[in-house]
Amino acid sequence: MNLLPFCLSRDRLRSDFPLKKMAYPLLDAFISKAKGRPYQIDQRMPLRNLAASLVRRSVWMMRGLLKTTIFSLRPALVFLGPRVIFRNASGCSFGSNVTVEAGVLLDGLAEFGIHLSDNVSIGAYSIIRASSATHIGQGLYMGRNSSCDAYSFFGAGGMISIGEDVIMGQHVSFHAETHLYADTTKAMRLQGIQPLPITIEDDCWVGANVTFLGGVTIGRGSIVGAGSLVRAGEYPPYSVLAGVPARVIRSRLAPLPES
Ligand SMILES: CC(C)(COP(=O)(O)OP(=O)(O)OC[C@H]1O[C@@H](n2cnc3c(N)ncnc32)[C@H](O)[C@@H]1OP(=O)(O)O)[C@@H](O)C(=O)NCCC(=O)NCCS
Repeated sequence: MNLLPFCLSRDRLRSDFPLKKMAYPLLDAFISKAKGRPYQIDQRMPLRNLAASLVRRSVWMMRGLLKTTIFSLRPALVFLGPRVIFRNASGCSFGSNVTVEAGVLLDGLAEFGIHLSDNVSIGAYSIIRASSATHIGQGLYMGRNSSCDAYSFFGAGGMISIGEDVIMGQHVSFHAETHLYADTTKAMRLQGIQPLPITIEDDCWVGANVTFLGGVTIGRGSIVGAGSLVRAGEYPPYSVLAGVPARVIRSRLAPLPES
């Protein structure tokens, strides 16, 4: 089937409005300064889309300012999407320029709290939660410039430590605890929980739909393939892991095989 007649013309992305030439580098410089790292807007982005995005970011910034003030959090530049739910907000802390997208649930009830460092971004409808009424969990730390995409889940019963510059896809889930189940005469829900930490070191890439069980350490610079189930263990730096259960399929330090 020929889909081309249904596609929009690409010319609409090519408008060479002089204002765009002037405004984009200025905006690039401004955002790079705010983020503390290089940032470049795609020159094909139509001006009106960029303007809409700036208006949206301003509304998110005002909402962030309002909510962090209401909850008496340390003043920080936080961009909050609509319908973000805070629970036990005093346990949450933020660096600067953090983005929390629409519908995220952030529950700060945790021994070590929930900390999102500078430039962290949490995708829409994600959940970060450490505790239940019967068990206070440990918490989560996410380093600078790290992000997860929509519908991710962080069960932070054990400590979840995510380094800097970590990028994570959609539907990533972390389960930093396990139910105890040795006694067959007692319901498993009554046998208690053991926290098991999860650590993702700096500069990792986690594909979509990855599940981490407790007791995992992913070495710096590693890649976890989409759909992997990562069991307890230490995975060396610069590994590429994939599969169910995930295994190291290659090292990024070794030359790629010729195709
Ligand atoms: C892990 C990944 C980066 C590897 O890419 P690659 O280097 O091009 O790897 P290849 O496609 O050459 O695959 C190499 C081997 O690993 C296997 N493999 C690759 N990705 C896999 C995955 N996600 N699950 C299971 N096996 C996988 C391949 O089947 C292949 O096995 P073979 O040698 O027996 O045929 C990529 O497959 C991936 O999962 N990317 C994540 C994409 C994603 O989630 N994006 C959205 C969020 S940012």
